[in-house]
Amino acid sequence: MRVLFATAELSPVATVGGLAAAAAGLVAELRRSGVEVDLVMPDYGGISLVDETTFALDVPDWVGAATVRRGHQPDVGALTTISIPGLARSHPYLQPNGEGWPDNDQRFFGFARAVAAYCEHVAPDVLHLNDWHTGPALAALHAPPPTVLSIHNLAYQGVADGGWLGLIGPRAGHYEWWGGTNPLSGAMALADRIVAVSPTYAEEIRTPAGGFGLDGPLRHRGDAVIGILNGIDTDVWNPATDPHIAANFDARTLDAKEANRLALLGRFGWPDDEVPLATVVTRLTEQKGIDLLVPVLALLDQIPLRLAVLGSGDAALAAQLRAAGTAHPDWFTFVEGYDEALSHLMFAGADLFVMPSRFEPCGLTQMQAMRYATVPVVTAVGGLVDTVPDADESADGLGFVAARPTSVHVLAALFRACRRVSKKRRRLALQKRMASIDWSWAAPAGEYEELYRSLVVSDELPAVTP
Ligand code: ADP
Ligand code: GLC
Repeated sequence: MRVLFATAELSPVATVGGLAAAAAGLVAELRRSGVEVDLVMPDYGGISLVDETTFALDVPDWVGAATVRRGHQPDVGALTTISIPGLARSHPYLQPNGEGWPDNDQRFFGFARAVAAYCEHVAPDVLHLNDWHTGPALAALHAPPPTVLSIHNLAYQGVADGGWLGLIGPRAGHYEWWGGTNPLSGAMALADRIVAVSPTYAEEIRTPAGGFGLDGPLRHRGDAVIGILNGIDTDVWNPATDPHIAANFDARTLDAKEANRLALLGRFGWPDDEVPLATVVTRLTEQKGIDLLVPVLALLDQIPLRLAVLGSGDAALAAQLRAAGTAHPDWFTFVEGYDEALSHLMFAGADLFVMPSRFEPCGLTQMQAMRYATVPVVTAVGGLVDTVPDADESADGLGFVAARPTSVHVLAALFRACRRVSKKRRRLALQKRMASIDWSWAAPAGEYEELYRSLVVSDELPAVTP
């Protein structure tokens, strides 16, 4: 089976958020199980391929000259990139000042149009699109192959000027959205299946509270909307071999985790005492609810709990966290930036990992934390519900869940978590359970493969004429 998989992000070539890791992890696992995946991404510049071949695509003038490069990328394997004018930039979406590139509509509508042309060229059995950046491809395809659209985050829809409707292809009408052009809504109408990245998110996006305006069209698609939980790359996130942490360990050698805790405490200049250590690794956006922690920071000495946040993004939020670090240096620290090596130590060395998300399509970091036997404290939203049963409510519990994304609920969950991890025997029982769970892509990739096969089979069935 040949799948054309199109994504705007891919680890480690172009990483912004979890989409990059999810695309890389899923494709690698599908390939391991024999699915032939043609992996296509924008040519942002600086991507070196071995054994490269190139050819030009036939696209409309408004796209500009589109060139395909196919070859081998050392970390990813077989990779196809498409270049069009304006796509190669220092960051996929953002200018150095943090604002989006003003021509992101042209860049990604053009990329998606080129993906459609490429799809016609290679005629795959299945087309798999991801998020809004690739959504407009379906406007241009008269007779597309069976198509899957994965929704990683409905908060980002790439809504653009209505003028695009005249350009993106014969099926552009599906993309009309309150006078504008919505690259995601059209793809939702035209894809054969819509996959949300967790089962709970698949439910949430069909409600007004979680649908970002698209809950109606999603409800309209009925059973075509499903949820498949993401996995994580368990080779990259492997405490037994991780080169970024102070001491390697596994489910049988959990005592060695302590050396990582000491390394982290040392790094932040904190004493080695009995106070639990919590970490956060995140993009700083409204979605992640880090602002909900701000009122809690002044109370950390009372819980007591030490908290270290690694994050980058929103400048105002970063300023708040910096100020809190200055005010409560013994209990709270903020490291601003995107630091992959440090993130590994923060997963490995902590007792608790905090994720106060307002919404969370899947979330990878809570799984990364549990892989390192670090107890997650999360809110009851999206993929967090599907991965973190509450340890006070279920014998199979893995973490502590705040019923609602408010400071008070998060504080209460932190209290419960601190109580549990302070008792060594009870902490170890929880850690052993977490460390024994398979968070890999094996099961999710199996579900995607089954989905592809079901679509290919139904596509091949002869139409029944009454
Ligand atoms: P999202 O895609 O919404 O940001 P996910 O949990 O799906 O959230 O994925 C985020 C990924 O990015 C994880 O692998 C996480 O470790 C990584 N990450 C996020 N922020 C940082 C940071 N400041 N430094 C290093 N890694 C980060
Ligand atoms: C998005 C979501 C995140 C999810 C990731 C990968 O960035 O915010 O919850 O884990 O995509 O699907």
